[in-house]
Amino acid sequence: MANEETFFTLEKATLSDLNQLSEMEKVCFPLDAWPLLERIGALMLPGCVRIKAVYLDRMIGFVGGDIRRRSGIGWISTISVMPQYRRMGVAEALLDACEKEMGMPRVKLVVRKSNMSAQMLYLKHGYQRTETWSHYYQGGEDGILMEKRCEPDFL
Ligand SMILES: CC(C)(COP(=O)(O)OP(=O)(O)OC[C@H]1O[C@@H](n2cnc3c(N)ncnc32)[C@H](O)[C@@H]1OP(=O)(O)O)[C@@H](O)C(=O)NCCC(=O)NCCS
Repeated sequence: MANEETFFTLEKATLSDLNQLSEMEKVCFPLDAWPLLERIGALMLPGCVRIKAVYLDRMIGFVGGDIRRRSGIGWISTISVMPQYRRMGVAEALLDACEKEMGMPRVKLVVRKSNMSAQMLYLKHGYQRTETWSHYYQGGEDGILMEKRCEPDFL
């Protein structure tokens, strides 16, 4: 999955990435870090896509996806990039790779209403806001459901 034009590579994450994923969750999701079991599940469960961005042998970004074949929907379950590597296209590359690997005609995700940087990323990448999920997050913040339809030639 290496792309010669970028300073990082995209690689399949495995259980051996648990420590680095945990570190990244702590830094990137101070309010919503996944519990240990969810982190392990994201790295091991069948039907899940897990891709890491790597620079100098360190994980600098991660995306997780859940494939729901029956409904034809892929869910982006998490995406994060270490602060010092943001605004360099890492998240866009991760999102793109995850959408392709999931191979579903529709992709959905939920994002905190206040998280404008993530919403800007998704809007730029072809997602649209479709619903508001009231009090979805811990602390009572609303969630914004966003969806993208993937063209058949993309799949
Ligand atoms: C959201 C996040 C993943 C973006 O990662 P990133 O690698 O910086 O994103 P990219 O560099 O690929 O950005 C692509 C586009 O998204 C938009 N974008 C990203 N961050 C933005 C910001 N802070 N403000 C405005 N637009 C932003 C821009 O359109 C950007 O394109 P540009 O740089 O050419 O203007 C990162 O900020 C992050 O890890 N945040 C904490 C975790 C999080 O909130 N995850 C999402 C949970 S739903």
